[in-house]
Amino acid sequence: MENLRKRVNESLAFIKSRTGFSPQFGMILGSGLGELADEVEAVAKIPYAEIPHFPVSTVAGHEGILILGTLEGRPVVVQKGRTHFYEGYPMEKVTFSVRLMKALGVHTLVVTNAAGGINPQFRAGELMLIADHINLTGTSPLVGPNDPELGPRFPDLSRAYTPELRELAKEVASKIGIQLREGIFVGLHGPNYETPAELRFMRQIGGDAVGMSTVPEVIVAAHSSLNVLGISCITNVFIPGKGADHEEVLQAAEMVKPVFKSLIRSVLKEIKEVARNEAL
Ligand code: HPA
Repeated sequence: MENLRKRVNESLAFIKSRTGFSPQFGMILGSGLGELADEVEAVAKIPYAEIPHFPVSTVAGHEGILILGTLEGRPVVVQKGRTHFYEGYPMEKVTFSVRLMKALGVHTLVVTNAAGGINPQFRAGELMLIADHINLTGTSPLVGPNDPELGPRFPDLSRAYTPELRELAKEVASKIGIQLREGIFVGLHGPNYETPAELRFMRQIGGDAVGMSTVPEVIVAAHSSLNVLGISCITNVFIPGKGADHEEVLQAAEMVKPVFKSLIRSVLKEIKEVARNEAL
C-alpha cells in the first residue's frame, strides 16, 4: 500500500508537469456518457496511456482520456471512460483514478454508470440517483495492507453516497423538470449479464439497478473521505425471456445523454460550498 501512495504521487507529478490546474470536482463518466467531457472548457487533455500507472480500458464505448478544466465555472477533472474489474485489472488499478483525483485536490466525486433496471417500475432511458449500494463483486478494493496516509483500515460506508448531494440532485432535478428515480445499486464483477435467478435474488435483497462498475470507486472514495454523487442511467430493463445486450445499453445511453448532461451540469452549477466529507 505504501507503494500505492508512491504510484499515485508519480502520476500526480506527471499531471502537475502538464498543468498547474487544481480541480475540486472529479467526474467518472460511464458507458456511452463520455460526451459531457467534451463540454469542459479544457486546460489539459491527457490520454490515460501517457499517465504513469493509469490503466487503459479495452471496452467499446470507453475512451481513455483525462480532461482538466472548468464546467459551469467549477474546476473539474473528468475521466472519460473507465476500467472495470471484469477486464482483468486488479482493484487497485480499477480505483487508481480516484486516488489520483484525491491527490489532485478533488473533494467531490460524481460517478456515473449504465445500469440494468431491476425495479419493475423503472424504464430504459431513466436516470437513477444512487442512494446506496450492495457490493456483490466478491471483494473490496481495500483488501491488503492499509496505508493510513490514504485512509482508515475500516472505513465507514454509512454515508458513502453523500446525503446532502443526493438532496441537492433531487432539488435540481425537480427544478429543471427531470424525472429522477432513486434506488440501490447492486455492483457485480461481470462481464456476463445476469441469470433470471440472479436478477430475482437481487430484487429480493433490495436492489433497484445492477451494473459492473462504480462500487469499487465509491469504496475508495469513502476511504479517501470524498463526497460522492452517484447517477445510474437505466439502459435496459429485464423482460422475461429476453436478455440484455451491450448494443442496447449503448443505444439507451445515447438516448438519455441530453438529460444526463443537463442534470450533471445543473448540479455542478448549484453546488455552493461543499465541505469535505468530515465536515458535512
Ligand atoms: N447488467 C449489468 N450491467 C449492466 C447492465 C445490466 O443489465 N446494463 C448496463 N450495465
